[in-house]
Amino acid sequence: MCGIYGFIGDGTVEDLVNGLKKLEYRGYDSAGIAFAKNGSLIIEKHTGKVDQLREFLSSNLEKRIHAGIAHTRWATHGVPNDLNAHPQSDCTHKIAVVHNGIIENFSTLRSQLQAEGHKFVSQTDTEVVAHLVEKYFNGDLLEAVRRAVEDLNGTYAIGVLHSDVKNEIIFARRKSPLVVASDGKRSFCASDVTPLISSVRDVMFLEDGQLARLTAGDFEIFESTSKNVDKKFHHIDWNEKDAEKGGFKHFMLKEIYEEPRVISDALTGRTYGGRIAFDELSEWKDYLKNLNKLNVVACGTSYHAGLIFKYFFENLRPFNIEVEVSSEYRYRNVFVDDKTLTIAISQSGETADTLESIRLVKSLGGKVLAISNVVGSTLTREADKTLYINAGPEISVASTKAYIGQMMVLYLLALHIDSIMDGKHPEIVKSLNKLPEIMDNFITSSNSKIKKVANKYVGYANFMYVGRGINFPSALEGALKLKEISYTNAVGYQAGELKHGPIALLDEKFPVMAVAVSDELKEKMISNILETKARNAHVVAILTEGDSDVSSVVNDSIHLPKLPHYLYPFLVGSAFQLFAYHVADGRNLSIDMPRNLAKSVTVE
Ligand code: G6P
Repeated sequence: MCGIYGFIGDGTVEDLVNGLKKLEYRGYDSAGIAFAKNGSLIIEKHTGKVDQLREFLSSNLEKRIHAGIAHTRWATHGVPNDLNAHPQSDCTHKIAVVHNGIIENFSTLRSQLQAEGHKFVSQTDTEVVAHLVEKYFNGDLLEAVRRAVEDLNGTYAIGVLHSDVKNEIIFARRKSPLVVASDGKRSFCASDVTPLISSVRDVMFLEDGQLARLTAGDFEIFESTSKNVDKKFHHIDWNEKDAEKGGFKHFMLKEIYEEPRVISDALTGRTYGGRIAFDELSEWKDYLKNLNKLNVVACGTSYHAGLIFKYFFENLRPFNIEVEVSSEYRYRNVFVDDKTLTIAISQSGETADTLESIRLVKSLGGKVLAISNVVGSTLTREADKTLYINAGPEISVASTKAYIGQMMVLYLLALHIDSIMDGKHPEIVKSLNKLPEIMDNFITSSNSKIKKVANKYVGYANFMYVGRGINFPSALEGALKLKEISYTNAVGYQAGELKHGPIALLDEKFPVMAVAVSDELKEKMISNILETKARNAHVVAILTEGDSDVSSVVNDSIHLPKLPHYLYPFLVGSAFQLFAYHVADGRNLSIDMPRNLAKSVTVE
């Protein structure tokens, strides 16, 4: 939530805007920049997206600057308007502050500062930081920021620029992410690596409580006590092109088309013949062998990947697996012992509730395995071990390729644990290796067909998604995708639960999206479909090609090739993503940046 970007060293206003653009998926209620020119602080900030800011700045884009900070906002305190946009400033209008997170004691601090004579102009919690830095500044910006953050409760990643301090900018972090790097001529700081990878590959992630002082040629890291900290670098090998649209109309469509590659990268180096090998877990052989419980925690789409993992694992062997959304798990009185493994799934590795869940598990002495896409993210640093999904940057707010990658890594993990416990499933491993090609054929041959079906349903206001068994979580995820990007009411249900309430909603204006592939639950699905048809609902079925039992009873069909049952969630996942994409595109909506959402949810 909220993107922060800043650099020091020779550059232009446009460099600032370009960096910010790459973080826009983190929030897009408003955008702003600050830099110093001839000793004065210049702040430009506006409601709306980064492109609107760019347009506003058009005659100044080439202006040379020596340092700047920038922000794209997901509003928490104060409506999205120009005044509440960041950067925020102080009474002297020399200090600019950008912030991601929530200052929980901002109201007390604001009253204190007002009593001391400070004048506030916005409704944001961030403005208190600018006034605190003003209060503590006596020539040393690092020290002023250090003292200011000591007064804060809550979470923050902040960037501070002072127009009288020409050769440094300061950043500080508590719970909200920041990454720092330098190419020797310019130094950068950002909420994540995407704006940095065009210039640098070795980056350092700030830890909680640390501050960074950036100068043009280098940066230094300090503990809150002012002690200088040794730098620890992570190498990022993401391809810069991955963060560009590459001819596709939207990132979302591009990222769906990348799914076969993502599956193949998730498999690379992890399967040998019919076996799975995770070097990352080699030290855990005995621990995994003796496990008797798996806890899975995650949010949103990652939670749905976790649910599919549960079904897949239980198919391999009966096992005690609990899957819970992080925002609930973290407040429960949970059971964790030395035979429990907690798996935390998070594309970004920065989701606040998931981080708090693993902190809870660790405080109880439990072990945590992270499944993440972002090298060096907070989750990966706090977990005991990490399996990366290697999907490359996912830009569209609605998660697509990361979901498919998560599923693949979780399938491999399930097979790995099962094999340590004496299971053998070479035929499954073999079929997983065939999946990239199957997915590629499916996506390229089905996209336009799914678009045709979606076009028929663009005008509907409500959808019911249903499935059974391993395809039930697919129904939840299909409904989530449609909600996120088309703002349509879509509910996901276990097909067998329809008759316990939701069927009351159905009529000819409430279509049903049913996963009815040829598996052992198909007959039950057909019965449920017929029940909905009897209430005049239109039914779109995802079915196995050639299956006339299903196609003969539904209005529209999306055909999947015949596959082992456990592979269907991958293709169903892509099919529902494409359906949601085409419904939203048919309505001409902002697909990559849907209203009210942000990709990385760093608030609780
Ligand atoms: C946000 C995103 C979702 C994502 C969820 C969890 O809500 O919009 O797409 O599934 O966060 O994110 P994570 O990074 O933890 O997987």
